[in-house]
Amino acid sequence: MNTFLEANKDRFLNELLDLLRIPSVSADAKFKDDVRHCAEAVRDALLKAGADLAEIHETAGHPIVYGEKLIDPALPTVLVYGHYDVQPADPYELWHSPPFEPVIKNDRIYARGACDDKGQFFMHIKALETMVATNTLTCNVKIMIEGEEEVGSPNLGLFVRDNKEKLKADVILISDTSIIANDTPSIESGLRGLTYLEVEVTGANRDLHSGVYGGAVANPINVLCEMIASLKDQNNHITIPGFYDKVLELSAAERKAMNEAPFDLEEYKRDLDIDDIEGEAGYTTVERTGIRPTLDVNGIWGGYTGEGAKTVLPSKAYAKISMRLVPNQHHEDILALFTQHFLAIAPPSVKVVVKPHHGGLPYVTPTDSLEYRAAELAMEEAWGGKKPVPTRGGGSIPIVALFEQELGLKSILMGFGLDIDALHSPNESYGLFNFYKGIETLPLFFKHYAALKQ
Ligand code: BES
Ligand code: MN
Ligand code: MN
Repeated sequence: MNTFLEANKDRFLNELLDLLRIPSVSADAKFKDDVRHCAEAVRDALLKAGADLAEIHETAGHPIVYGEKLIDPALPTVLVYGHYDVQPADPYELWHSPPFEPVIKNDRIYARGACDDKGQFFMHIKALETMVATNTLTCNVKIMIEGEEEVGSPNLGLFVRDNKEKLKADVILISDTSIIANDTPSIESGLRGLTYLEVEVTGANRDLHSGVYGGAVANPINVLCEMIASLKDQNNHITIPGFYDKVLELSAAERKAMNEAPFDLEEYKRDLDIDDIEGEAGYTTVERTGIRPTLDVNGIWGGYTGEGAKTVLPSKAYAKISMRLVPNQHHEDILALFTQHFLAIAPPSVKVVVKPHHGGLPYVTPTDSLEYRAAELAMEEAWGGKKPVPTRGGGSIPIVALFEQELGLKSILMGFGLDIDALHSPNESYGLFNFYKGIETLPLFFKHYAALKQ
């Protein structure tokens, strides 16, 4: 650890804890003022770190924070992206300590957003502060931290299109992904895309007495369950016609290389407390999450779910469904294929409506580019010579594909989280090791990137 970081580590941590106390939940309108308050805190943190400019940009939704430190037009420019919004903390009762009152336990920071993404984008702000304070900045830095990533970045695309000149850079650097383990550094070379939608199945025009009508009128919950169950066959292969048409199959050599990355299935099962795993036949766990598409019900409801029993034949049933996509699937094509199929399999006894939510394209970045090489060298140096393993991430950051389209820039996904950090779950946490390792590694990216660009 360098001396500046060593001397300031407690302050850096306390500043992160302050940020984690702000409940910046983008999905829930009741936190709207907190989200803005968080944007202001991020702006102030950028100024404190030595940014020449830090401003809040209004959008139709939550604000975007943008800051910059431009030292020399002859040097390369790195655009850092992150998000200060967090997922809802529900269910609150499963948290061991309140989600917005961070605590440190077993060298981990417990709070909503600890890893995703406050703990991670804050490493960039502290890395910037370190480089400015020690006069070691080797690139121009632009930082854009948005407040709507967890709701699909509905307004960021417009901001990017309207501010191409402001955002002009040579590469995008993002810390919002994971490494394999603290002793096994890795860099994600891909993200999955996403189609998210909701379905509504209606039977009779009103809730009915399940004795008077039961057995004679369609129960939309039963029908919905059958329809959903039919979307996968015994091999866990998705049955929507055309779903796999554009899926890029990897070569045997690529699959072999992918499966050489360290992965312990027993530990994986132990961590999740499951006796067995489940997934598409013919693929390993790393392949199932990295290079194969999925279809999952994220929520399902209808009828009576209150206390006690109520005999009712419900009028409506609902489900929220997500499909993770891989190259070269397109989220709009998949939405159309799903909709067409789902309407086609509905029995005439019900009416079905499919409502699209958000979507995003998958992303892959070559592992032989100059910018990937800089990330590799940075991690190698920070991990005492251990070369990072390229991995394909299962999560999605839809704006990354859009950055490529609109700005023509590749993104380097240099995240420092772990799968055990419980992102989006109760008791989300982030390791102190990971927080400090990030602050130590990011300046090395700037150093190697500037050197390679010369
Ligand atoms: N940081 C995550 C994505 C992620 C996590 C990528 C871990 C790789 C490893 C991001 O904040 C996220 O949660 N994205 C959403 C998509 C969005 C449209 C709601 C996701 O993946 O569900
Ligand atoms: Mn994130
Ligand atoms: Mn997230």
